Amino acid sequence: MKVLGIETSCDETGVAVYDTGLSGAAGLRAHAVYSQIALHAEYGGVVPELASRDHVRKLLPLIRQTLAEAGLATGDLDGVAYTAGPGLVGALLVGAGVARSLAWALDVPAVAVHHMEGHLLAPLMEDDPPDAPFVALLVSGGHTQLVAVDAIGRYRLLGETLDDAAGEAFDKTAKMMGLPYPGGPQLAALAEKGTPGRFRFARPMTDRPGLDFSFSGLKTQVLLAWRDSDQAEQTRADIARGFEDAVVDTLAIKCERALDEAGSDVIVIAGGVGANKRLRARLQEMAAKRGGRACFPRPSLCTDNGAMIAFAGALRLEAGQQETAEVKVTPRWDMATLPQVVAVAAP
Ligand code: KG4
Ligand code: ZN
Repeated sequence: MKVLGIETSCDETGVAVYDTGLSGAAGLRAHAVYSQIALHAEYGGVVPELASRDHVRKLLPLIRQTLAEAGLATGDLDGVAYTAGPGLVGALLVGAGVARSLAWALDVPAVAVHHMEGHLLAPLMEDDPPDAPFVALLVSGGHTQLVAVDAIGRYRLLGETLDDAAGEAFDKTAKMMGLPYPGGPQLAALAEKGTPGRFRFARPMTDRPGLDFSFSGLKTQVLLAWRDSDQAEQTRADIARGFEDAVVDTLAIKCERALDEAGSDVIVIAGGVGANKRLRARLQEMAAKRGGRACFPRPSLCTDNGAMIAFAGALRLEAGQQETAEVKVTPRWDMATLPQVVAVAAP
């Protein structure tokens, strides 16, 4: 089954084709992402109305480009998957409208995909994917969640952030220290040059039981350290390193705890912060020590993309799920309400 995936939930237009007839990473026939970063940079954050308008401009050319790269015509598609939430309502409606219309014109089924399920399943697109059950750490700009994956589509929330998401903490901390938007990757790059241990920040909520997170106090600690410092370039790098180490450590401690609680040794990491090199190394080391494994998508599939939507959609379409012709989005959407994906036997 060849499925077109469309992602427009925030500031990235993502399009991809996933072919379930080919296994693992080979199934990804083509994928392209157009990032709106330059458009929003001068405002220091995403402006929803500008995001919607830019998706309108970029989506159709990106679909044409992706199909050409895959060597396919629209008539070759067997289904269309689109992000229906969570996300910005206007941005979501652009993707949903185009996806629904295309599916209707081609007389193929369309399926609504939950953005975070897309992230969560992205590591399964790579070669040698893990089988459920496993534990997933979802770390993006809007979410920080530990989820027990009992089966594809059956998700139990184990813990989540009580305030800022991990990516949001990266972005806000970077902004405070004068780095350009989006700060996460910039701060991580700066931390590479930082001296480990010169600044040590708290590992929030690791001193008590539970799997919830809180990152807003850490942000304040960093702000105070930055304000009281000489604000030299090396100091900025050292503070960045201290901040990154605190976030990575906190996430790793909670992941290990979640594995203990779920009785699992497999942790799957997804979402933009999953591209962070130090987090990848730390979680790989933690999982290896207990004889398990940490599974990540390649960095380009950690941040928002259409491939994860094509893949998650393909699994649901193959299981017989599809939407009515209505163009509907769900800007706030709890992943625990999703139906389980039960594979249907081939005829
Ligand atoms: O998953 P994503 O692309 O979009 C959302 O669904 O939110 O995640 C974006 C987030 C941003 O906060 C960004 O700063 C963060 O992921 N991010 C990183 C890195 N790359 C992206 N944070 C830390 N280190 C990175 N290398
Ligand atoms: Zn995302």
